[in-house]
Amino acid sequence: MPAQEPGARFCLLLFLSLASSGLNAGPSLRSRSFFSSPENTGYYDIQAQDLGMWHVPKKRPLQHWRNSSLLRYRTNTSFFPNLGHNLFGLYQKYPVKYGSESCQTDNGPAIPLVYDFGDAEKTAPYYSPVGQREFVAGFVQFRVFNSERAANALCAGMRVTGCNTEHMSHEDTCGVSSQA
Ligand SMILES: *[C@@H]1O[C@H](CO)[C@@H](O)[C@H](O)[C@H]1NC(C)=O
Ligand SMILES: *[C@@H]1O[C@H](CO)[C@@H](O)[C@H](O)[C@H]1NC(C)=O
Repeated sequence: MPAQEPGARFCLLLFLSLASSGLNAGPSLRSRSFFSSPENTGYYDIQAQDLGMWHVPKKRPLQHWRNSSLLRYRTNTSFFPNLGHNLFGLYQKYPVKYGSESCQTDNGPAIPLVYDFGDAEKTAPYYSPVGQREFVAGFVQFRVFNSERAANALCAGMRVTGCNTEHMSHEDTCGVSSQA
């Protein structure tokens, strides 16, 4: 497959699970996609356990997301109860604000991933050569600052070890907005 511009053709689908066992199946009764509507009740209300993420081609209908996905992975450590119960709570603990903190020292938590389709090594080719030197694959990390002190809400598939996060985290979310 030829190299693609990061984020050019794929988007990131995120969903929460109420129970750790629910995520393998993808968006379902037990796990809700929470970026898909502005009202976004799951973002605020769910007492979530874990987070699932799929990298899917843009402009595909929902019923093809699973089969056409490049990567499917999730957390399985039930980290949400300790980090605010959902993304709203998590970003209250780790506010995503420009210029508020410094890169590396003030980044938010990184949670290890379990891969249901694909593996951590497949993450690297999606990012630029500069970016590839500055992360460890196999994690999701929240609130990552770069050298300009701009914050990314979420780095999917990696724990960031450098300050050039503008070369990463380019994947758009599939829904309305990735802003906290
Ligand atoms: C997805 O793949 C599975 C297994 O190969 C197949 O049974 C199913 O029909 C496919 N679903 C869609 C929507 O293409
Ligand atoms: C999470 O998944 C890993 C890899 O499959 C497994 O070794 C580990 O026991 C799981 N942890 C929990 C809490 O289920």
